[in-house]
Parts: sequence; structure tokens; C-alpha cells
Amino acid sequence: MIEEINKHIADLEKIKLKDNDELEKFRIKYISKKGIVPFLFSKLKEIPDAQKREVGLKINSIKEKVNEILSKQKKKFTKTSSDQSFDDLTKPANFIKLGSRHPISIVKNKITDIFLKIGFDISEGPEIEDDWHNFTALNLPEYHPARDMQDTFYINKNPDWLLRTHTSSVQIRHMENNDPPIRTISPGRVYRNEDISARSHCFFHQVEGLYIDKGVSFVDLKQTLLHFTKELFGKSKIRLRPSYFPFTEPSAELDIYWGLQSEADYRITKGTGWLEILGCGMVDPNVLQNCKIDTEKFSGFAFGLGIERIAMLLYQIEDIRTLYENDLRFLNQFRSSI
Ligand code: DAH
Repeated sequence: MIEEINKHIADLEKIKLKDNDELEKFRIKYISKKGIVPFLFSKLKEIPDAQKREVGLKINSIKEKVNEILSKQKKKFTKTSSDQSFDDLTKPANFIKLGSRHPISIVKNKITDIFLKIGFDISEGPEIEDDWHNFTALNLPEYHPARDMQDTFYINKNPDWLLRTHTSSVQIRHMENNDPPIRTISPGRVYRNEDISARSHCFFHQVEGLYIDKGVSFVDLKQTLLHFTKELFGKSKIRLRPSYFPFTEPSAELDIYWGLQSEADYRITKGTGWLEILGCGMVDPNVLQNCKIDTEKFSGFAFGLGIERIAMLLYQIEDIRTLYENDLRFLNQFRSSI
């Protein structure tokens, strides 16, 4: 038996294989179920105990050599994709799996695109804010009851620091650093100390809009928002409901008429056909003065909206948490040119 094994080892040293067919025959000859290696192993029980170890090791070395030859030769015979393209230049290119944008980015880009086309620019601010930009300058002094409307994450190290609760803070930063006319749109992430559920999350995204110039009136606000809702939703029936925000006077909430065509429409509009989209108003003169803007000369409007809410409406997403789970089966459904 030892001799037989040695002969196989010697054979393997000399082996020459031309192509994949020969490689496959070689594989079958040695390691298929009825091949040489399993056969030798099956004979092992007939070997006297004293020699078993030595013989076993030798058979194993045959098996290892065979596997080594198989993997080396396989690499040699497998053509690379660039070789293949030389074979047939008319073949379609290999499929490259592209990623897709996150639905929040898609909606953010849609919104900013609409405003960029009508002369707005984009501005951004920090997510860690100070009290002045997030509250005080926006007409929300320290003990103002409206501060309760926002559950705030404060930063222990410095009681003046917090995670911004809205992108309205960027309004202030922008007005402090730029003279009117101002037309700016500020997308960004905001944080609130809220329980996580299908409808709310401890962070989300907003877009803030601000327009300051000579003689800006409520008419401009209404027309701008009408243009926006037509572009984004393809809906042209809107209404402005009186509301309250400390930084605008008068303040309003914008509803769009969504319609009542389907069962889902009844559900999302609670049977009214109307949907609340954003908060807005004429910038309160106190806010302008806080930013050293001459209220005799200038006036303006502002608005703020939640991106998740719009994304959930546009794509019929039922649970806000699916937007943050990064499940590729969900994310791969979003393909957009923007
Ligand atoms: N900051 C408000 C919020 O987080 C949204 C908002 C409402 C922004 C009215 C505005 C505005 O600029 O005028 O709920």
C-alpha cells in the first residue's frame, strides 16, 4: 500500500493539465466519491495499527496536493472579466449594483430644488446650538410658556448648549451674518426629547424658509407656498389657518387639500380631505430687531416643515422608524434622479 501511495505522490508531481475539462477529470479521478483518495482512506482499516498513522498522513498529503493543484489551475483557467470583454465586444457590460438615495435626502432635494429655482439660496447651521439662536432670539425668552412646546436635550457640560429643536435657529444665524434682501432655505436635523413611536422620533429633519426684503407681505407668503405645494404635491388648493408661533406675527398653519379619492385618503386626512403641511407667518419685528435688521425698512416671512412627514405622505410610509432602520429591502425601492 505504501508503494501505491508513493506512486500517486510521484504522479502528482508530474501532472500537467491543459484546460477546465482536464481539470474536472483530474478532480473526479482523485477526490470524487469513487476517486483514489476516498479509496485509499477506505483501505486504512486494513493497515496494522503501528503503520496507520504514517499511512494516514501520506494519504492526507495526497488530498492536500490535489486540492492545491485544483485551486491553482482553476485560477489559471478562469478568465478575468477584462479577458472576456476581448472575446466579444458586443456583450453587455457587467451589471454594477448602484446604491440609491435615502428617501429623506430625496425629499430634501425636491424641496430645496423648488426654492432654488425661485431665487432662494441654501444655508446651514450647527446641530449643537446655544440658547440665544434656538430660543431667545426667536422671541422665546427664558420663562416663555412656549418653550414647553419643545422638549429639549440640554448638554450637561454647559447649560447654554442644547441640541437644536428646530431649524429656525438657522434663520437667526443667517440674519446676523447677512443683510437683506434675504431668501434662504435651511434643511437640517433637529432633536426633541420625545418617545419613539410609529409617528414620532427623538430626531428628525426640517426645512426652514426665510424671506426678508422691502415690502414683503402676507400675499408673498401665500403665493410662495402655493407655488411650493403645486410643485411638490401637484395640488393647488391650500388654506392658511390662524395659529401661534412666538417668532411670527401673524402665524398660520398651511393645509393642502389632499382629496378623498381612496380609503387611504380618508385615513390620512381623518375624513376631512385636508392635510396640515407646515407652520409659517410674518417674521415678528422683535426677531428682526434681535438680528439688527431695520424693521422700518424691512419685513419678511418664514416657514418650517418636517421632511419625514412629507416623505411619509409622498411614499405612503406608515411607520417613521422604517426611515432610520437602514433595511436595504426598504431603501432599494427609492430611485430618483435628484
Ligand atoms: N419652528 C417650528 C417648529 O419646529 C416650525 C415653524 C413654524 C418655523 C412657523 C417657522 C415658522 O419659521 O414661521 O415647529
